[in-house]
Amino acid sequence: MSFRSREPHQRTPLLLLLSVLTPSLNACLVNNSTNGSSVYCHPPAEILIRLPTNTVYLSVEFFNLTQLPSNILQGASNLQELHLSSNQLENLSAEFLLPVPQLKVLDLTRNALAQLPPGLFQASAALHTLVLKENHLEILKASWLNGLKALQYLDLSGNRLWTLPPGLLANFTALKTLDLGNNQLATLPPDLLRGPLHLERLHLEGNRLKELGKDLLAPQPGLQFLFLQNNNLTSVAAGAFRGLQKLDMLDLSGNLLSSVPTGLWVSLGRPTRAMKDGFDISGNPWVCDQKLVDLYHWLMANNDTMFSRKDTFCAGPGTLKGQLLLEMARSQ
Ligand SMILES: *[C@@H]1O[C@H](CO)[C@@H](O)[C@H](O)[C@H]1NC(C)=O
Ligand SMILES: *[C@@H]1O[C@H](CO)[C@@H](O)[C@H](O)[C@H]1NC(C)=O
Ligand SMILES: *[C@@H]1O[C@H](CO)[C@@H](O)[C@H](O)[C@H]1NC(C)=O
Ligand SMILES: *[C@@H]1O[C@H](CO)[C@@H](O)[C@H](O)[C@H]1NC(C)=O
Ligand SMILES: *[C@@H]1O[C@H](CO)[C@@H](O)[C@H](O)[C@H]1NC(C)=O
Ligand SMILES: *[C@@H]1O[C@H](CO)[C@@H](O)[C@H](O)[C@H]1NC(C)=O
Ligand SMILES: *[C@@H]1O[C@H](CO)[C@@H](O)[C@H](O)[C@H]1NC(C)=O
Ligand SMILES: *[C@@H]1O[C@H](CO)[C@@H](O)[C@H](O)[C@H]1NC(C)=O
Repeated sequence: MSFRSREPHQRTPLLLLLSVLTPSLNACLVNNSTNGSSVYCHPPAEILIRLPTNTVYLSVEFFNLTQLPSNILQGASNLQELHLSSNQLENLSAEFLLPVPQLKVLDLTRNALAQLPPGLFQASAALHTLVLKENHLEILKASWLNGLKALQYLDLSGNRLWTLPPGLLANFTALKTLDLGNNQLATLPPDLLRGPLHLERLHLEGNRLKELGKDLLAPQPGLQFLFLQNNNLTSVAAGAFRGLQKLDMLDLSGNLLSSVPTGLWVSLGRPTRAMKDGFDISGNPWVCDQKLVDLYHWLMANNDTMFSRKDTFCAGPGTLKGQLLLEMARSQ
């Protein structure tokens, strides 16, 4: 990949015109409007090394770049969105984002980052969306995220995270969505959800979680969406969902639950408030004995929002194997 300097200033309008009319030329597509310029660089374009000073949106995607051209953001101090997905970036420099203090969205999906330099976000107080999906992160240090103050959306899914540090979200009072799906997490720090004042969406699916304790969710009574499917949950504490009166979606499918404690469901769904979206408890090895009576009662009250009914059946005991849980509930 070679990086060509931009044409001399007086020829810029011609270059822009050509790039809009005939994107097959090896130039990035630049779309200027009253709000600023949007610059789209996709292969086989050559990457503009000096951006228009009014650039608000930059996409440099699908190049498999292992490194970005140095100073690529220099002079683009109005940049609000930076999309760098589908490259092969392994590291970034701590100064990378200094020129763009107004940045609101940073998308680094599908790169090869195994770490971030401490200080990367020292000038990123406006950043509200950070996507690090499908990188190579195995650990995360709270210091890597220092400086973020406005974060609302943090996507760390599809990495190799097996542990998280304490206090990770302590400073992220505005966080609404946390996506930790499809990692290798077997445990979570008990204080994980302390910090955000109003988390709405939590993705923990596709990890190796074995149990859900009673305190993890307690700091987030306003949670609306909770995804726990495809873990190794064998136990959920009786108080784990207490106070979750706004929950509209609960996915517990594809776990190893054979039973759940009495009282688990008391704050969810009806009779208090129907879940708007619904719940899924399919793909668990339910043992349909008296211990499930509490769940049966709850199922009857909430049957209209149950997903995957035909895949929600007893694994035992004995001849009850294969019976639908909903049928068991109806026959109580
Ligand atoms: C340029 O931006 C304007 C306004 O955002 C949009 O309507 C138009 O479709 C864009 N043009 C191209 C070629 O992307
Ligand atoms: C972009 O458009 C604005 C008006 O919409 C104009 O003032 C400005 O000169 C243009 N910038 C470039 C680099 O063409
Ligand atoms: C410019 O930004 C305003 C406010 O965000 C928006 O309503 C408008 O559609 C944008 N105009 C263009 C041409 O993109
Ligand atoms: C990037 O890598 C993918 C997968 O190896 C390949 O299909 C694609 O052609 C590569 N793109 C470029 C621009 O080299
Ligand atoms: C990234 O890592 C490579 C190889 O270790 C190194 O040569 C390069 O200087 C690093 N780049 C940055 C921006 O840290
Ligand atoms: C929270 O922010 C303060 C002040 O910027 C900083 O000293 C502290 O290390 C941050 N805490 C974490 C866990 O990042
Ligand atoms: C999790 O469960 C899967 C199958 O359900 C099993 O293959 C795997 O070994 C379990 N992992 C752990 C860490 O228990
Ligand atoms: C839910 O249960 C009620 C009472 O048993 C029944 O009338 C209703 O048809 C059921 N709804 C669905 C969607 O199965």
